[in-house]
Amino acid sequence: MTDQSVIDLRSDTVTLPTPAMREAMANAEVGDDVHNEDPTVQHLERMAADVTGKEASVFVASGTMGNLVCLLSHCGRGAEAIVGEEAHVLHYEAGGAPGLGSIQLRTVPNDDHGMLDLVALEETFRGGNIHFPKTALICVENTQNRCGGGVLSVDEMAQVAEVARRYEIPVHLDGARIFNAAVALGVEAKELTRHVDSLTFCFSKGLSAPVGSVVCGMGEFVAQARRVRKQLGGGMRQVGVIAAPAIVALETMVERLAEDHENAKLLAEGLAKLPGVRLDPAKVQTNIVIADVAEWQPFMKSLRDAGVLASASGPGRVRFVTHYGVMRADIEDALERIRTAIEDAT
Ligand SMILES: Cc1ncc(COP(=O)(O)O)c(C=O)c1O
Repeated sequence: MTDQSVIDLRSDTVTLPTPAMREAMANAEVGDDVHNEDPTVQHLERMAADVTGKEASVFVASGTMGNLVCLLSHCGRGAEAIVGEEAHVLHYEAGGAPGLGSIQLRTVPNDDHGMLDLVALEETFRGGNIHFPKTALICVENTQNRCGGGVLSVDEMAQVAEVARRYEIPVHLDGARIFNAAVALGVEAKELTRHVDSLTFCFSKGLSAPVGSVVCGMGEFVAQARRVRKQLGGGMRQVGVIAAPAIVALETMVERLAEDHENAKLLAEGLAKLPGVRLDPAKVQTNIVIADVAEWQPFMKSLRDAGVLASASGPGRVRFVTHYGVMRADIEDALERIRTAIEDAT
C-alpha cells in the first residue's frame, strides 16, 4: 500500500486472495459437488472437520449461510434460540432465522469481551409448559465482533456448554473468526470447539480466501445441514475452484493472524491518544478495534478525508479491522493521517 492509497480498515472481508490462492484456483481438480464428485471440496471438508475436531463438515457460501443452515438444522418452527444481545446472527444476518425458519431469537447480555451472562442464560431456559416456545439452541460467538473482537477462553466455552448440557440443549458456535481466537489464546482451534455441537467458521475474513465458510459437527448433523444447504439453493457444482483457495487459507494464513492482532493493538494505542476518542487498548485482543466517539460523524468525515476507511458500529462507535494486506507501516501512516485530518478540521 503506498502513501497516497486508501487504507481500508472497514473489515477483514476486504482481503484479496494471495498469489498462491489464485494459482490453486486455476489448477483445482473439480467435479459436481452436489453429486459428491468434487475432490477439492472433499479435501477441504476433511481438513475443516479435522482442524475443529469434528466428524464432518460441509462447505457453504458464507458465514451467514453457515449460521442459518445450523439454526434451521437444530430448531423446529416456533422454537427459540438463545443468542447474545450483540450476536452477529441477531444484528447482521437479515433476520434469516426468524424470516425463513420461524425461529424466535431470545437474547441474554454479553459482557465487554462477548461472554454470555450465565445467570441470565439459566433464567432464559423455558420449561415444558405448553405456553412457552421450546428452547432449542444456544448460540455463542467467538471472537465476538460487536464486542470488539473479544475472545472467549477455553474455560468460558466449557462453562456455556456445561449449562447447556444440564438443560440438554445443543450449542452452536458462530466461529467466523475462531482462528483469531485460537491464535490470540495460543491454543488449537479444536480446544475452543470441543464442547459445541455445531460451528461455522469463515475462510473469507482474516484467512483471506475469496469466498466461503464451513459448517462442522457430528456426521449425522452435517448430513442434515447438507440437506438444508440444498434447500437454501446452496448446493454448488464445480465448487473446487473456490474450495482450493480455502485450503491454501487453512494451510498458510492462520499463524499470520498474530500480525493483525499486533497491528490492531498499535492502532488502538494511537487512536486512544486522539481527542474525543475513548477506548482501552488493553482490551484489544484480536484484529477488531471499536472506539467510542461522541462526535462520530465528523470523526468519520476526518477519516474519509485522510483516506482511512472504517465503519460505524452503531451511533457513537467506530470500528477498525486489521487484516492481510495492511502492514505495520500502514497503521503508522493511518494514525498520522488521522491526526493531521483532525487538526485540520479544528
Ligand atoms: C461474527 C460473524 N459471524 C458471521 C458473519 C457472516 O459472514 P458472511 O459475511 O460471510 O456472511 C460475520 C461477518 O462479518 C461475522 O463477523
